[in-house]
Amino acid sequence: MRTKLVAGNWKMNFTAKEASAVVESFVRLIDAKASVDIAICPPYLSIPRLRELLRDTHIKVGAQDVFWETSGAFTGKISAPMLAEFCVDYCIVGHSETRGRFGKLETDESTLGFFCENEQTVSLKIKSLLYHAINPILCVGETAQERDSNRTDAVIQGQLRGGLSGIDAAELYFLSVAYEPVWAIGTGNVCDASEAGRVCGMIRSTLGEILDTDVANEIRILYGGSVKANNCDELFRQPNIDGGLVGGASLDPNEFSRIVMSA
Ligand code: PGA
Repeated sequence: MRTKLVAGNWKMNFTAKEASAVVESFVRLIDAKASVDIAICPPYLSIPRLRELLRDTHIKVGAQDVFWETSGAFTGKISAPMLAEFCVDYCIVGHSETRGRFGKLETDESTLGFFCENEQTVSLKIKSLLYHAINPILCVGETAQERDSNRTDAVIQGQLRGGLSGIDAAELYFLSVAYEPVWAIGTGNVCDASEAGRVCGMIRSTLGEILDTDVANEIRILYGGSVKANNCDELFRQPNIDGGLVGGASLDPNEFSRIVMSA
């Protein structure tokens, strides 16, 4: 039985001071006995503050990205042991924004060089996170163009095979996968619940082929992309959807707590 996970991806929002206020009001709204796993992924600088504030709650803190090397001349990067020191439990990997695939514009090739996330870096990051006991949340998903040309399943299968290559199945029990159609992120165009459920089912059977069925049945598959309090019930009812990765709606404590309660 997979416990549902709702993770808030704050992206580049809130200073540490603002983050504290938001989290304090979120904690007041959340039922301490809620039988759902909850994580908040703030910008790096807010992680120490949030860890402190959430110490006595069951709400975990996550990061939005990581670099795979442990230390060295990598200006601007943060490594997994640096996150582990602050007891970070989750880390997002391969988000479409770090892959340079923005939903609102079709991917402009000139942006890709600035973001550079690809299957190979995704796999290196997952390995480094697992080594430091941080649970990766691997994001996969197709652009509007890829969906229109019926390549949705093939694109996602390629992202899963590439991102998980060279990693032992037994290590992946703590992986979560987030299906995030690029065209649904930040656009208000949520994916139809039954289609999102179908894609998450396809992800689970692909994981079964790449890894093994036991591991695939343990891995949590989340849906992300314009999840709101008014559309999450139906998404969370899908048998293969084990929670959500929530962007914009996680910035509002009322809205985010309603999504958590729905899960
Ligand atoms: P959104 O973002 O909920 O604002 O669409 C989701 C995400 O990017 O993870």
